[in-house]
Amino acid sequence: MQVAHPDDGTAAAVRRGFAYASRGIAWLDNAATTQRPECVIAAMDDFLRHHNANVRRGVHRLAAEATAAYEGARAEVARFVGAGAAEEIVFTPGATAAIHLAVEGLVRPSLRPGDEVWVTLAEHHSNFLPWARAARETGAAFRVLPLRPDGRADLDAFRALATPGRARWLAATWVSNATGAANDPAALAEAAHGVGARLLLDASQGIAHAPLRVAGAGCDFAVFSAHKMYGPTGTGVLWGRRECLGAMQPVILGGEMVDRVEADGRAAWTDIPWRFEAGTPNAAGAVGLAAAIRWIGALPPGAGDHVRALAAAARRALAAIPGVTLRSAPDAASIVSFTLDGVHPHDVAQALDERGVAVRAGWLCAEPLLRTVVGGPVVRASFAPCNTAAEVAALADGVRAAKEAFAP
Ligand SMILES: Cc1ncc(COP(=O)(O)O)c(C=O)c1O
Repeated sequence: MQVAHPDDGTAAAVRRGFAYASRGIAWLDNAATTQRPECVIAAMDDFLRHHNANVRRGVHRLAAEATAAYEGARAEVARFVGAGAAEEIVFTPGATAAIHLAVEGLVRPSLRPGDEVWVTLAEHHSNFLPWARAARETGAAFRVLPLRPDGRADLDAFRALATPGRARWLAATWVSNATGAANDPAALAEAAHGVGARLLLDASQGIAHAPLRVAGAGCDFAVFSAHKMYGPTGTGVLWGRRECLGAMQPVILGGEMVDRVEADGRAAWTDIPWRFEAGTPNAAGAVGLAAAIRWIGALPPGAGDHVRALAAAARRALAAIPGVTLRSAPDAASIVSFTLDGVHPHDVAQALDERGVAVRAGWLCAEPLLRTVVGGPVVRASFAPCNTAAEVAALADGVRAAKEAFAP
């Protein structure tokens, strides 16, 4: 099947950097985790082979090299997201851990009965459950912001429903992992600040696809994971405004996050951000994230258009199959989710896997949204610059095969 699409020169150039491509797998599960280009693996390999040491504690030369690489990575992340300073970047094990640090370290200790915390209906469980628990256990109200018909957060509803002075936080995703609907971070921040609340932006699904200027947009916190932007698993980022980080308490205590510890247990925390990075940090992961940032920066200029064209082609090809219902936003840049009448999404995914096409199927850790809007699980294809029009065609062929095999 021929899919109308601009030429695949972008994909061909980008694919050369990915070992998995030689296996003939169509990796359309980029929203779950991206594959890693060779340059990311090489940077981590070089660090682990030649510069490995525990960072920020040794006085020998390897410790100095490892620390320089780790702190250099922090500076690269800061530049990449438009942070005011490298010290505003806290390395965490991932987006989930970053949200927990913000919620447990700053939000929960300051919540009082009668306060409101707001999340949108589109949040991944990672940006939903920690807020619900913090509200429940402090007597604050947990409020879920409805979405507009286009899948974006309904900020008019927020302005109408949030109580000025009582609404303390808005936790909102930049891009929905289930529908691909994209909120405008600056509009979220403006709405939150308009009622005296602060914004935590979950940038996990946007960061690989579009530039983010966290400070310029007016965010107070932003989080993301390296593995969704061509970096390694086990590394993530909490960016925080200086005053937020300054007021935040460390949640994990231990090595290298103190200036002084007394025998009676009293301690003085060290500076931001290191007071939030107790224990031996994942330095190789930070190095890999920095390499991924350089790789994203070196993508061909047409890479973003290429991804959008693939998503549009997938929507057209899938919509042409009787029984398919698209569940993602019509303008989603990289995510296409759908259901097939009478066929469980897991069966669709299984049929696709038999053809070498990897997609995600299920509730996508976004049950509040899928239960409310779709009423069940979905299949999700998600695209990256290394994908091709041929892979879109394979996706559509596989869905037709699933229909023949499973549809009643
Ligand atoms: C929108 C969104 N937020 C948060 C997460 C959690 O990321 P991680 O599992 O890397 O902590 C995900 C992962 O799928 C996501 O899609």
